[in-house]
Amino acid sequence: MKRPFSLSPRLQAVADLVPAGVCLADVGTDHGRLPVWLVQHSRISHAVCSDLRPAPLNRAKALAERWEVSDKLTFRLCDGLADIPPQEAEVVTIAGMGGETIAEILRACRWTGQGGHRYIMQPMSGMDGLRRYLSTSGLAILREVLVPEGDTLYVVLLAEPGEMKPLTEGEIWVGRQSRDMESPLRGRYLEQELQKLRRAVTGLERSQRPEDVEKRKWYELAAWEVAQMKKEWEAWQK
Ligand SMILES: C[S@@+](CC[C@H](N)C(=O)[O-])C[C@H]1O[C@@H](n2cnc3c(N)ncnc32)[C@H](O)[C@@H]1O
Repeated sequence: MKRPFSLSPRLQAVADLVPAGVCLADVGTDHGRLPVWLVQHSRISHAVCSDLRPAPLNRAKALAERWEVSDKLTFRLCDGLADIPPQEAEVVTIAGMGGETIAEILRACRWTGQGGHRYIMQPMSGMDGLRRYLSTSGLAILREVLVPEGDTLYVVLLAEPGEMKPLTEGEIWVGRQSRDMESPLRGRYLEQELQKLRRAVTGLERSQRPEDVEKRKWYELAAWEVAQMKKEWEAWQK
């Protein structure tokens, strides 16, 4: 008998943001666990599973066959959303890649600004690059979810076409915060990102390269802002 599989907390957090009954495009699907799980649990009607390379796409096809859900999935070998027309995807998931790559995929797509699409993104690194892109992209960040897995805190972002006040340098690093947001792990996240920024400043202070002077100023500003946000967050928790 086949044992049902479950998603990792990181992918489960992505799955939980997918509204019921939609058609999905899972970009960079690799093993295909996310779309197969969503179909298996009748959460979505159909998914396009895409990947840049044939080997990962074949892994997704094999998983779909194993779980007998191939009729609800389409497989497409393509770069990002290049060969996925807007009518095929009400929701786009892009998980497990660098933030810069995710930003590149969205930037290259002709229809990301069109209404009626939701984007769920889970970068493994380069959160600042992705938030910086989103800040001026015509997509508004509606939610950020923090997910612990092992020692790592992953961030899952939900965005839709719309207006968003541009993010400040600190917000580029840790996202926007508000008093009413529910985020029990935010204190830990703020501390983690603040330490990263302070280490970056220390590293840049030792650099002899003239271009690093400007970079250090940016990091210093971000670190200062994040420290203020952390104080604000801690005051809200009392
Ligand atoms: C680490 S896997 C992530 C798999 C899965 N989405 C997850 O989160 O567990 C990243 C996948 O993205 C694919 N990929 C990287 N750049 C891509 C692009 N521009 N377009 C489509 N797929 C891409 C890679 O081939 C790889 O299979």
